[in-house]
Amino acid sequence: MSQDLTLLCRDDQLQEGLARGFDPWAQGRDTVLALRWRGQVRVYRNLCPHLDVAMQYRKDRFMSGDGRHIVCFAHGALFQPDNGFCVLGPCQGQSLQALMVKVDVSGNVWLEEGGPRANDEAIACASMD
Ligand code: FES
Repeated sequence: MSQDLTLLCRDDQLQEGLARGFDPWAQGRDTVLALRWRGQVRVYRNLCPHLDVAMQYRKDRFMSGDGRHIVCFAHGALFQPDNGFCVLGPCQGQSLQALMVKVDVSGNVWLEEGGPRANDEAIACASMD
């Protein structure tokens, strides 16, 4: 594998419609969220475009009650799981930051880009994990 890739998780750790948080750059908190949606692996930075805060209210709680959207629990914004587009809430029309991934033949999921943001230390975390 290229040195530009960052290991995220194993493919079988991602279940259809269930988002999980990960800390691929060892920042001490889940800086990305990943899920399988309609068979495709989707990964986003765990940052709401409204206020740049983490979105879960506790470990791995990223989905709305009906399981149809990723939700920011700070103010209830709803995002489409397939593209991160906000369809309801204060950041309606904006999007989560998607990260490109690659799944290798051994079932490892790799991030193809990204890295911790320069201001990651300043990001308030709304999670209770
Ligand atoms: S911080 Fe996410 S909706 Fe306000």
